[in-house]
Amino acid sequence: MKLFSLLVLIGVYGCFSQYTDSPAYYDRRCGEDLGNLWLEVVAVVDNSKGMTNGGLISIAANIASVFSNNTRIGTNPNEPRTTRLGLVTYNAVANTVADLDQFQSLDDVYDGIFGGLAQVSSSDESYLAHGLAQAEIILEAGQTAVNRSHYERVVIVYASTYKGSGSLDPIPVADRLKTAGVTIITVAYDQDGDGALLHDLQKISTPPYNFANTDQAGNTIGEIQGALLQVNCFCPNGWTQYRASFTDVYSYRYGVCIQPTNLNAVWRAAQSACRFKWKNGYLATEFDANKHDFILEAIRNETGFIQPFSYHIGLNYVKGVWVWDQPVGWPQPQLQTYYAWNPGYPITSSTLTGVLNQQRSSDVATGWQNISPLSTGANYICETASCDTENYCSSVKSD
Ligand SMILES: *[C@@H]1O[C@H](CO)[C@@H](O)[C@H](O)[C@H]1NC(C)=O
Ligand SMILES: *[C@@H]1O[C@H](CO)[C@@H](O)[C@H](O)[C@H]1NC(C)=O
Ligand SMILES: *[C@@H]1O[C@H](CO)[C@@H](O)[C@H](O)[C@H]1NC(C)=O
Repeated sequence: MKLFSLLVLIGVYGCFSQYTDSPAYYDRRCGEDLGNLWLEVVAVVDNSKGMTNGGLISIAANIASVFSNNTRIGTNPNEPRTTRLGLVTYNAVANTVADLDQFQSLDDVYDGIFGGLAQVSSSDESYLAHGLAQAEIILEAGQTAVNRSHYERVVIVYASTYKGSGSLDPIPVADRLKTAGVTIITVAYDQDGDGALLHDLQKISTPPYNFANTDQAGNTIGEIQGALLQVNCFCPNGWTQYRASFTDVYSYRYGVCIQPTNLNAVWRAAQSACRFKWKNGYLATEFDANKHDFILEAIRNETGFIQPFSYHIGLNYVKGVWVWDQPVGWPQPQLQTYYAWNPGYPITSSTLTGVLNQQRSSDVATGWQNISPLSTGANYICETASCDTENYCSSVKSD
């Protein structure tokens, strides 16, 4: 069975490696290498009496499992892609078991987590608000030791109950964390299994990261790892991450960032601007209708883009074929499958080799038109890869 899985795995990787020869014709996925995760994480665990010792040890095992897949724990002078993990417990009060600097290896995590979660407290009270506030303190203190201010921050809450109103209400502190850019993953350790706890924790979690030990999938480890990989996939300041739905900011994220510019340039100059704006920048691709529509929605939500919309994208005519712009030196995928030409386009011409999206007079939709890359000015859309496990960004500041 094991050998079979291994062969399947090799098969899968074999397939992927073929794509390096002919460029992929789909938008880049977020990096999925847990070994290269770079995050600041605080686990916040309810250790009130109601949790039970057995429950607490199960949670310790769950946390340890999430980080067992080669994730580098702690800091490392030679490798920035590391994850720091802190641990907070809470009952009537909160307690820091480990700040962000304590664990420097997976062994430290095992010792600290199983040691720190060996026994429930004597308190029946369980105030999540205290646990979250303690996590907030740890995350803030963590900024001074090493400058990891461009690392995404995550709190993973394991709760057995949801209590608190007035000054013990967890919602205000959760909102404060989320406003500061912290992602909150919740895991309901539901001992009744009636779903009420899961429902309550939804009030504090970052959608869609609200999980339960009773989830049908039965794969809390995979769910949390998947959430961490999505959180560790983001865009530099001033770029918009491509996602499944423009209106749903919590929808599935792709490993692609776009940046509309509302100052006119000719196609060739726009291409150069994209290359200078960010390492490996290029003019945007529209491999499918979803991406085409996303870009249109993004510019409709930008100030400074006025109708009729007109903006350059990466399609261009090279040696007799239409290809998509890519970072300098990368193979350029040839146009296939999806076409968004406006009626009458493309015009056959040896000089009209750039492409822009032009709003049609009939409606707000845009379509492709080929233009001279040296004489037609328009706005333009740049694109680059997201910062993620495959692509470390030493800064998230746009120049
Ligand atoms: C590590 O994670 C990858 C990707 O999620 C998965 O395919 C692989 O089976 C995991 N390996 C182990 C040892 O858990
Ligand atoms: C860390 O870096 C950020 C951005 O580069 C900067 O704004 C901040 O002041 C730095 N913090 C410390 C403590 O040096
Ligand atoms: C639209 O733009 C506004 C203002 O910049 C921004 O706050 C909002 O998040 C954008 N909408 C979406 C769905 O991204």
